[in-house]
Amino acid sequence: MSIRLLAAAALLLSWTVSAQAAGGMVVSAHSLATQSGIAMLEHGGNAFDAAAAVALDVGVVEPAGSGIGGGGFFLLYIAREDRYVMLDARETSPQLAGHGEVYETQSSIDGPQSAGVPGLIAGVDHLIHEYGRLSRTKIAAPAIRHARDGFAVSTRYRSVAKWRQKVLAISQAGDIYLDRGNVPDEGYLIRQAALAETLERFSRLGADDFYRGQTAGRLVADMRRDGGLIRESDLAAYRVIERNPVEFDYRGCRVVSAALPSSGGLVLAEVFGMLSRDDLAAMSESDRAHLLVEVMRRAYRDRAAYMGDADFVRPPDDLLSPVRLKRLREGIDMSRATPSSSLPPALALSGSGANTTHFSVIDAEGNMVAATLSINYGFGSGYVSPSTGILLNDEMDDFVTRPGQPNVYGLVGSRANHVAPGKRMLSSMSPSFVIGPERTLLTGTPGGSRIISMVMQSILAFVENRKPPEDWLQKPRFHHQYLPDEIQHESGAFTADVIEQLRNRGHKLRQIRPYGNMQAIVWNREKGTYIGLVDPRGEGVAVTFPAGSKH
Ligand code: GLY
Repeated sequence: MSIRLLAAAALLLSWTVSAQAAGGMVVSAHSLATQSGIAMLEHGGNAFDAAAAVALDVGVVEPAGSGIGGGGFFLLYIAREDRYVMLDARETSPQLAGHGEVYETQSSIDGPQSAGVPGLIAGVDHLIHEYGRLSRTKIAAPAIRHARDGFAVSTRYRSVAKWRQKVLAISQAGDIYLDRGNVPDEGYLIRQAALAETLERFSRLGADDFYRGQTAGRLVADMRRDGGLIRESDLAAYRVIERNPVEFDYRGCRVVSAALPSSGGLVLAEVFGMLSRDDLAAMSESDRAHLLVEVMRRAYRDRAAYMGDADFVRPPDDLLSPVRLKRLREGIDMSRATPSSSLPPALALSGSGANTTHFSVIDAEGNMVAATLSINYGFGSGYVSPSTGILLNDEMDDFVTRPGQPNVYGLVGSRANHVAPGKRMLSSMSPSFVIGPERTLLTGTPGGSRIISMVMQSILAFVENRKPPEDWLQKPRFHHQYLPDEIQHESGAFTADVIEQLRNRGHKLRQIRPYGNMQAIVWNREKGTYIGLVDPRGEGVAVTFPAGSKH
């Protein structure tokens, strides 16, 4: 079947897939990447092999969202050990980026200076080596093939390429991701020959090639020539880190989510801690919306004030203490919005990217992976290292890079998230598991600062057991992040009546374009069934293993 036909056929499978007694499921933002994960299960691999293949391949076929020029977080459940662990493959700041307020670049969004030291290859290598069963060669094969032979441009690709066309056009990236400077037509094949060679070297030589070998040498030579900051010593010093995830209980469910340097787990723990005594289901729609907005406001304020790389800064010990969270909840006036300016101020300003990708994988043994990977903005920095074909991230923008000035997303931050050599920039990526009495949810999404509130809304839908699950991802979303002091919402998130009631309480509302691209799985452990949930805003695909178990 041609790539185009495969994509069209895959779209028919998208949105939701239910399966009885199947041997696994993969849900990702692209049909080819999902199929690559399934192929690993067919080869006898486990969920970790499948996740490694998806991580490599989704960066090839959805280059706007992630890739080996970026990083991310893999949340794992290792069934035989009954253990959760987070692989932190987040980028680090190069030495040359300096410290805190002296970080000076032309841009933290566009071009080679905006790139942090990539972590994805270290993460994938670790995943394969420590937890997988298959060879690197087998796992990398689909990504190499798709980079060399090409993948077909889709509607979604076109819209992100249009947004980033200007920056792509000024470097070699334009030769790869555009068609003679124009946004390519649907079906046009994007081929990434140099990237295929780099991936092939990884498949033969492992992460050593990327961080200390030929790829490292080439990447640094390109960086020196083109003004980037990454040097040999930055690459050689890069390490993937195993971290304990954040864990907490909410209404009889265990939530397991990303730890610092992602703010996701802590913000979610604060939100649900504040809500622990509230019966949301019994509330009017406007009370419920008001309360959710107010808890988000407070948790995002704490994100801004206290959070950064835990290896450099420590959040206050009582951040999640029940006493503190109860006090925060008691400070919420149900009849009036709390102006963000009346809360204790957070110091400076920083942002968080809009693109990124998420996928979820489960296998017959009950191993699980929820992974959120990123190169930050659409097509990252827009800079491709010509000799390696690696599209570099612009993750440096997730630090507080310009104290006192708002960045494009207006998220605020403090000294806790200032630049320092080797430090990891604060993230919002929140791959999460929610373990209920009978069912488990694997969830996550791209969406910059709004990731956490989207994951929050998926957790609520799961805990409240709303029917049917197929509707969870369709429901229009809303968000508050402390600053700017406004409720951002998709069309249809609130009725006219609720909008009026929220305005009467002093909330400012702003309708924004649809956002997010969640790829989730609901596993009914009692019945042995899966439901794959694919965000209708994207082009993701859920497939079960073996293929015959699709319904
Ligand atoms: N670059 C998006 C995030 O880490 O939150």
